Amino acid sequence: MTVQKLGVCYYPEHWPEERWAIDARMMREAGIGLVRIGEFAWSRLEPEPGRYDFDWLQRAIETLHGEGLDIVLGTPTATPPKWLVDSMPDMLAVDAEGRTRGFGSRRHYCFSHLPYRAECARIVTTLAERFGAHPGIVAWQTDNEYGCHDTVLSYSKAALAGFRDWLSRKYQSPQALNRAWGTVFWSMEYRSFDEIELPNLTVTEAAPAHRLDFRRYASEQVVAFNRLQTDIIRKYSPGRTILHNFMGGFTGFDHFALSADLDAASWDSYPLGFLENSSDPERRQRYMRVGDPDFQAFNHDLYRACGRGRWWVMEQQPGPVNWAAHNPAPAPGAIRLWAWEAFAAGAEVVSYFRWRQAPFGQEQMHEGLLLPNAAPNEAFHVVRAVSRELENLGARVETTPARVAIVFDYESAWAWSIQPQGRSFSYARLILIFYRALRALGISVDIVPARPEAVQGYRLVLLPGLFSVPEELAAALGGDGQIVLAGPRTGSRTPDFRVPDALPPGEGLQGRIPVKVRRSETFEPPFAIPIEEPANVSAFETWREFLVAGEGVRVIDRSQDHEVAFCCDAGGAFHYLAGQPNAAYAARVVEYLCGKAGIAIQRLPRDIRIRDNGPMRYIFNYGPEPIDIGQWTEGKSLLLGNELLEPCGVAVFRRG
Ligand code: GAL
Repeated sequence: MTVQKLGVCYYPEHWPEERWAIDARMMREAGIGLVRIGEFAWSRLEPEPGRYDFDWLQRAIETLHGEGLDIVLGTPTATPPKWLVDSMPDMLAVDAEGRTRGFGSRRHYCFSHLPYRAECARIVTTLAERFGAHPGIVAWQTDNEYGCHDTVLSYSKAALAGFRDWLSRKYQSPQALNRAWGTVFWSMEYRSFDEIELPNLTVTEAAPAHRLDFRRYASEQVVAFNRLQTDIIRKYSPGRTILHNFMGGFTGFDHFALSADLDAASWDSYPLGFLENSSDPERRQRYMRVGDPDFQAFNHDLYRACGRGRWWVMEQQPGPVNWAAHNPAPAPGAIRLWAWEAFAAGAEVVSYFRWRQAPFGQEQMHEGLLLPNAAPNEAFHVVRAVSRELENLGARVETTPARVAIVFDYESAWAWSIQPQGRSFSYARLILIFYRALRALGISVDIVPARPEAVQGYRLVLLPGLFSVPEELAAALGGDGQIVLAGPRTGSRTPDFRVPDALPPGEGLQGRIPVKVRRSETFEPPFAIPIEEPANVSAFETWREFLVAGEGVRVIDRSQDHEVAFCCDAGGAFHYLAGQPNAAYAARVVEYLCGKAGIAIQRLPRDIRIRDNGPMRYIFNYGPEPIDIGQWTEGKSLLLGNELLEPCGVAVFRRG
């Protein structure tokens, strides 16, 4: 089984060469096993067109490898140099307002631009030929955070040409496209694919099917862009793990689809930055220095699914960052807690961003393990302590499937951002409501894609908000006594973004639970719809549906205005929830479902979280007070932590 390790992101090109050996030694002494380099170094690797300077990178690799560090080499395609941009200015992306995005930061390219792709293939091939067989290179990272800085959608000429071509292959005839998009609606009918424009700069919104197809097209360009690199790397660097570092909370392209070309997924985890940018003021205050107790865990579970069990944290926050609304410092213990939350979820590697704080450039205010003057900063000491703990524990990757799965679907995120119907509706938030409710009951969860094979074997499957439910998925659910929850919004559109003829949730699901959604409404928080029993307890926020319940449907809860709020089919396996639950009602619904599915629950205090993985149980305290965790330790002796778990405390034990 894979040993769990620590890593760090390093930029040898930022520091004098005399420093590299000292840094490498300090890394080893801190217990770091792995170092990622190179991902922004194009201007140093190819200072002039076709003039490569790889010797410095060779020396850096030798120095790091000489200290026994394993190396992850990044491809530099997120930062094309100035000479390259000047040689093909139309490679720059164009924003939705039609403005060309400029040179001077990073990610300034359009995924659809084929000559830029050819340039990427060239630099990646040259790098992979030179370093692919080096014994120090254990892994590759393609590009850097696809989609960061809002870069998936580009409204360039290249995108227009690519989109028209993509549509002609998808629909074969303009008539078929007109039917699918419903272009008769406002006299938008097209006579040929060449008449079709990108869905920006329209007077009011473009047709939802037009916009969704553009999102699909754009996502496929990211996947193709990445695949070009993975094919080259596989050829010249066989046996190495190929990863990409996804940015947490980004849904602009399909991370499952892209991950199919990777060996493992990785993501960049900035708990305080993410929380600062979240919309919940109460949570922002309470967890300001420790991060949201569920957001990181959710992403760990998501990327474990993307990587088909294999995943890393490629960049872990080491102190204040520079890019959030505000940038607080972590509480003592928080950096350690984040590492253990990731290892508990089966991470192979937790790698810190970055080794040394940069005194120049855009991220001067972003801490590293070392201060700008190279003195160890707080996170350096944390890393050393965690590496000892990993060693003492003999920590190995465990990825035992959970008993509960939530379906997560990128296309649904696109669809509902195109048609939110209420300003405060968000697919990601809806999913997180259920995830939080399950975690608060001590339940470990798997996140799975919307595919029939992915939902097999779980006791309980939740698919809230799933835009369109394929027949095969509906048929695959509910086997072997599996309990299923659909709604709200599940199956409410066909793949062409139409209301299903049979009304939502569509024929497939209606074959399992005969309900029809006749009306949906949205309203602004804190307004909420209460249920009948217990009286006056509010249940639905933001989104609520009005159902027509068919034969045999059993009503579990009704709203105070007598509508069906929560119900199941006659057999009791398929459930439908007719609104977005608030936290309290989500807890009630999820607890009810777990009861039916025979899953034991534990009502945890708000700051405690538990992760069960194989033989191990991990307990985390995200709160400001010590908490007695005796009731969850099963009388077992702790390998890490104390029964009175301190703030930011981590306890680990082997279950019976
Ligand atoms: C990530 C990015 C890094 C660095 C970091 C700062 O999104 O991949 O290159 O910018 O943020 O937190």
